[in-house]
Amino acid sequence: MSQRPDDRFIKLSTEDNPLTSVLPRSSKPPRERAIERFSISGNAIVTGGAGDLGLEAARAMLEHGAQGLCLFDIATRFEASRSAIQGLRNEFPSSQITEEIVDVTKEDEVDRAVDRVAQQLGGVHVLLCFAGIARGGKAVEMDHLRTMTVEEMQEYDKLLDEPDWDIYYWATNKRTPPERWADSPLLEKLRVHARNEGKVVRKMPPL
Ligand SMILES: NC(=O)c1ccc[n+]([C@@H]2O[C@H](COP(=O)([O-])OP(=O)(O)OC[C@H]3O[C@@H](n4cnc5c(N)ncnc54)[C@H](O)[C@@H]3O)[C@@H](O)[C@H]2O)c1
Repeated sequence: MSQRPDDRFIKLSTEDNPLTSVLPRSSKPPRERAIERFSISGNAIVTGGAGDLGLEAARAMLEHGAQGLCLFDIATRFEASRSAIQGLRNEFPSSQITEEIVDVTKEDEVDRAVDRVAQQLGGVHVLLCFAGIARGGKAVEMDHLRTMTVEEMQEYDKLLDEPDWDIYYWATNKRTPPERWADSPLLEKLRVHARNEGKVVRKMPPL
């Protein structure tokens, strides 16, 4: 039996999936078809939504037609991003942009917040996850980076291979580090940095 050309390929999507289905041919001009192809409908949750990538992704969702958007983030970051979020609201007045203070490491907080958003916006259709700790920013900001020896740099590199949240808890003295890091002078430097005794205002360096 002869093989139809399409049977040679694995199909990752089906025709009834609105995200990937082929657009029906129409007499519309290409520009209009392109807009239709990349248009978004429905509501989205963006975790880390008050952060750099989260806000940029939120803007993209709104530009492409999202009707509702809820940003999940921690309180201090919302404060720091207040004017950027207001800017989005001014620019997209017909979209609903809400905020939820949520620590995404706490499952019950996430569950409750998702339920609230689903009620408020009338459903959630897209989830974008940007909550996290931007490693590059922290490394560049480390007070000692420019004066560290090659060995210290290698030790630092090894430390950064540990899960981000573990490093965070060890550096902020919220959890005891495992034996391999217990006496690390480097982790101690990181702890001093995390205490920020000089109360320096820190932010991601420009990318
Ligand atoms: N920016 C880059 O070039 C880049 C490259 C690769 C990976 N990443 C990763 O992408 C993610 C976003 O990067 P970014 O540049 O937007 O960083 P960012 O620091 O600007 O944003 C991260 C956001 O996540 C939030 N967040 C952290 N922990 C949270 C928690 N427990 N609950 C809720 N919110 C929390 C922070 O408050 C912040 O607003 C990070 O995980 C980062 O490591 C970024």
